[in-house]
Amino acid sequence: MYNIAIDGPAGAGKSTIAKKAAKKLDFIYVDTGAMYRAIALYFIRAGVKAEDEKTISEKCVDIDVSIDYVDGAQQVILNGENVNDFIRTEQVSMMTSNISKYPAVREKLLNLQRQLAAQKNVIMDGRDIGTCVLPDAKTKIFLTASAKERARRRYKEQVERGIECDIDQIEKDIIARDEQDMNRKTAPLKQAEDAVLIDSSDMSIEQVVDAIIETFEATA
Ligand code: C5P
Repeated sequence: MYNIAIDGPAGAGKSTIAKKAAKKLDFIYVDTGAMYRAIALYFIRAGVKAEDEKTISEKCVDIDVSIDYVDGAQQVILNGENVNDFIRTEQVSMMTSNISKYPAVREKLLNLQRQLAAQKNVIMDGRDIGTCVLPDAKTKIFLTASAKERARRRYKEQVERGIECDIDQIEKDIIARDEQDMNRKTAPLKQAEDAVLIDSSDMSIEQVVDAIIETFEATA
């Protein structure tokens, strides 16, 4: 199977870009952040605090996360319920970053992610795909952009969804989330040594997709 790994900080446009590149290449797009988000939602609903690593680690066995595709769009299934519509709030984003540092949580999703990549040609996006989940992926991209630009994009996205928000708060949240993701002990966000760095701050979506396809063609 051919695997493409795309990692990078919050709001760098990984999912938008990966979805388009997957369509062009006829690959399956796998959004691993959505899987972590589903686990965070489970603990928010259960009223468990993010700091309570013991309870979170113990309760991981009660959680079943899987993915499905409807018209090509990934759906995350949490214990039989499609939770796609509930995982994109800022509250879930922060909870996700808070709990994804726990080894038990990461362990829970690692096998699922590796199995998906073993069965199909995938473009998988996340934070640790090139470094940890798929270290042998033939194409690795580290996609980034300035924090200001990432906040601007996230703001636009939320407004389009009809969600009221404050751009300065979004920027603060993005920076806090990146700090936490980069500084955790287990599978931190970092560029794999063999990843190609793309800074999309001044690039259009199409230009980034083309850059990824070119990188893929050069390594295929
Ligand atoms: O990509 P997305 O913004 O949906 O990811 C949400 C959070 O999930 C990240 O901030 C990070 O804490 C966590 N995550 C992770 N490893 C991945 C994907 C996401 O730790 N492979």
